[in-house]
Amino acid sequence: MIYGLSTRLQTNDFADVAGTRVLAADLENNFATAQSVGCILCALAYHAEGEEGVIFPASAGFAKDLVNRLIEEHHEFTRREMEIGRAARHALELSSPEERIAAGVRINQMANELFAAYITHLNREETELVPLLQANITDAEQGAMRGKIIGMFPPDRLMALLNWMLPAMNVNELSDLLGAVKKGAPPQFMKAVADLGTAKVDSARWNTVRQRVGI
Ligand SMILES: [Fe+2]
Repeated sequence: MIYGLSTRLQTNDFADVAGTRVLAADLENNFATAQSVGCILCALAYHAEGEEGVIFPASAGFAKDLVNRLIEEHHEFTRREMEIGRAARHALELSSPEERIAAGVRINQMANELFAAYITHLNREETELVPLLQANITDAEQGAMRGKIIGMFPPDRLMALLNWMLPAMNVNELSDLLGAVKKGAPPQFMKAVADLGTAKVDSARWNTVRQRVGI
């Protein structure tokens, strides 16, 4: 999601008002309520919801200080995401193409700073928190936590997230996820995920997943 957004920001012609308007709308569409499935910045914020709602409370007993620092970082990301949304709206109000291009350069710089911090944060969660989770929580409990996170999201938001996630996962991750969905989710949800995978995932990778999972 970050790499895709970075590419869009980098390649956008900020002199072109119509194209920039589409980008700005996609960035923060309905950001205030974070309900829109098309809002890229909102989708980045969902990362914090699943962690703060399910994973962090379960980690408080063995990773309290780390969890508190990660929550602080989530708040910082939200602040930066809202600033980027505001900057994109502001760029549209500028009358000259040169001013809009200069604003676009600043938006790219703001986004790069956010993305660098965000990816560092994701790596810290993988290298510092995940080993603690694996040492303190069973695989079955972790599977139940994943199910709880998936269950937190309204169906349209979940499908929007999977729209980003499925094409970005490798065959092992896809097989694991699809296997869990097949085992624990209603058949109509399984069908929706399978249809999304057929449409969005590279066909060779998806065929391997289908054979492994038996779908
Ligand atoms: Fe996080």
